Amino acid sequence: MDLLIKGGKVVTAKTTFKADVAVKNGKIVAIGNGLKAEKDTEVVDARGKLVLPGAIDGHTHLAMPFGGTISTDDYYAGTRSAACGGTTTVFDFILQSQGEPMLDSIKRRDALAAPDAAVDYSFHIGVTDVTTDKMLDSMEDAVKFGIPSFKVFMVYDFGVDDGSFYKVLQKAKKIGALVGVHAENRDVNNVLVKQYLSEGKVEPWWHYMSKNEDVEGEADVRAINLAKMAGTSLYIVHLADKQGMDAVTAARAEGYPIFAETCPQYLNFTKEVYKSKRAQDYVCSPPMKGKVSQDAIWAGIKNGNIATLATDHCPFTKAEKDWGIKQKNGKPGNFTTIPNGCAGIENMYPYILSEANKGRISFNRAVEISASNPAKLFGLDHLKGAVEVGLDADIVIYDPKKSLTVNNKKNMHGDLDHTIWEGAKVKGYPVATYSRGKLVFDGKKFVGEKGYGQLIKCRPIRHKGPIL
Ligand code: URP
Ligand code: ZN
Ligand code: ZN
Repeated sequence: MDLLIKGGKVVTAKTTFKADVAVKNGKIVAIGNGLKAEKDTEVVDARGKLVLPGAIDGHTHLAMPFGGTISTDDYYAGTRSAACGGTTTVFDFILQSQGEPMLDSIKRRDALAAPDAAVDYSFHIGVTDVTTDKMLDSMEDAVKFGIPSFKVFMVYDFGVDDGSFYKVLQKAKKIGALVGVHAENRDVNNVLVKQYLSEGKVEPWWHYMSKNEDVEGEADVRAINLAKMAGTSLYIVHLADKQGMDAVTAARAEGYPIFAETCPQYLNFTKEVYKSKRAQDYVCSPPMKGKVSQDAIWAGIKNGNIATLATDHCPFTKAEKDWGIKQKNGKPGNFTTIPNGCAGIENMYPYILSEANKGRISFNRAVEISASNPAKLFGLDHLKGAVEVGLDADIVIYDPKKSLTVNNKKNMHGDLDHTIWEGAKVKGYPVATYSRGKLVFDGKKFVGEKGYGQLIKCRPIRHKGPIL
């Protein structure tokens, strides 16, 4: 064996137990008490520590052209930062170009990711063009290739109408794919934007107001109805409002395969951030909502109706965020000229584990929503998502006694010049991250390698009911 992690407490989605974990050729080969090292085995003392699966971040935007620029972290910076926060797999979004078959989209983005990624990665394809049968049918080629996950946007200028969304759902059902949705009502959003701007309401607060609870909630309900009509599963990404949470909960109680993702920013911040000094830094879509929505989402985390936690990592520099005050072209800016998105790829696992450490949820539930559930949902649980014999040795050693205060300059590892998590205190922190048995974070710094990450091919997805 190559590596033996001795004396830690293994945490799975269901149980916690003391055991040694043995790794050979990047795989977990044995879990048990009193495992013996071989001649060249590296032995790691994990007494007093938790041994966790690496997190799977099901929602990132690395080097993504968006909002008139490109998100700051490329595949190297983003995955390096992920590794240092205990995340060992990221699902990044490809945005299909007009007239581009899905397989071409995958190849175009993988050409960027493969030389750079420091941990394993896979993709969801953001569908923007299904106007012809050729485009729609090309979804099947992606599934056969190993990318069985698509996303439609109900908002943004590249978003699709309900007819196209419905066609994508029908097709997904046939070919064994999962459809994710960014749910916000585009028409109402556009009307509100126009009204606010004409009234001189230009501050980031009006970003929230134009994408308020009802704007998201209506679209959540409509998306669920479309999935029910198509008789297929649905994954609502970055859920941030109570109406949507209630609709997901009700649909699941009726037995529908409806799954919801939320993000740490919605659990930790409320709309009040849009009144703060650097409110522009928090502009993302959907925006943070009020306390009522935050409480509803926390309830979903606790009662099982939130399936996954992901980051929606889409960082932009301070200067780009300031386009809300003064645009690139020197004209005055407003809330619509701020690139949408925030950083979080290094903060997700430490944040939710810290909440577990403080007793808000169990460590098992933190592991379930951050690792096991995304693996099951996206068709890669034959490889990842748990500390289990036969799976990839994507392992985090977590010290519940080590605390950290986020300081972008000192202890974050991405390329961004700021973070909305600055000053956040977490109780407990990863002290080692292994990706397929290779140490990539030593508790202080990134020790992995650019290009080490592999493209993970996922199995076709056919969720018949609310299996998670
Ligand atoms: O503000 C966000 N979330 N930017 C990234 C694109 C998206 O909608 O997920
Ligand atoms: Zn989105
Ligand atoms: Zn996103």
